[in-house]
Amino acid sequence: MRVVIQDDYTKMCRWAACHIAARIKAHNEGPEKDRPFVLGLPTGSSPIGVYQELIRKNQAGELSFANVVTFNMDEYLGLPHEHDQSYWYFMHDNFFDHLVDMKPENINILNGMTDDPEAECARYEEKIASYGGIDLFMGGIGVDGHLAFNEPYTSLSSRTGVRDLTTDTRIVNSRFFGNDPEKVPARALSVGIGTVTDSREVLVLISGHNKARALAATVEGGVSQKWTCSALQLHNAAIIACDEAACGELTVDTYKYFLDIEKKERL
Ligand code: GLP
Repeated sequence: MRVVIQDDYTKMCRWAACHIAARIKAHNEGPEKDRPFVLGLPTGSSPIGVYQELIRKNQAGELSFANVVTFNMDEYLGLPHEHDQSYWYFMHDNFFDHLVDMKPENINILNGMTDDPEAECARYEEKIASYGGIDLFMGGIGVDGHLAFNEPYTSLSSRTGVRDLTTDTRIVNSRFFGNDPEKVPARALSVGIGTVTDSREVLVLISGHNKARALAATVEGGVSQKWTCSALQLHNAAIIACDEAACGELTVDTYKYFLDIEKKERL
């Protein structure tokens, strides 16, 4: 696992956007350029700065999304596209609508209005497989370490499916629903931990003091279904991009190790 520690949120997002851009460009210039680059994407406040930087690069002509197919992590059950808290709305409002060459048919988001959630989730897994899997999955995590909507004690080999949200998550996410946890949908569709870890590379953003326990569990704790993000320890190409504020619960040893090793990689 790589842990890339940046001074603050802005620098963390810039680093992540540069990394994603470099991967897309390398793909488009490499031997597999005839197939699309498959990118997994999250919602939440963590990726917003990354999206802004990717939009800037795209509008400046530095990065094309013409050969990119995206799959989003999750979606609330029961919210229509036009609901301003649906993840469909979030992704178009914060990202897709601003890209100059993203093809609408290349955007994949779980349909939260489906009347057959199980079939929708099976269709999603099949569609990911039809592209040969995901090249890079970017994610964020909740304060309890949930990756996508895989709450504590979700199987670390789970696939895309229906998830019940914990009261804690509904309370945390109620900030987007007029601070009323009851207005936060109780269920969601989500890729599984196994779906994420099957990706060739995973990049998770962890920012802020409130994520410090989750970062420590992800990096230093044992692999445990209690912290579903800890499954990344078993992935051979997992990167955590974090800021100083999120490092508060790491041991000094761990913190110094990753600063040291990342500095050496850049030399
Ligand atoms: C939600 C999403 C997750 C996201 C998490 C953290 O619960 N389902 O995919 O990672 O929130 O969000 P934030 O980045 O706003 O802290």
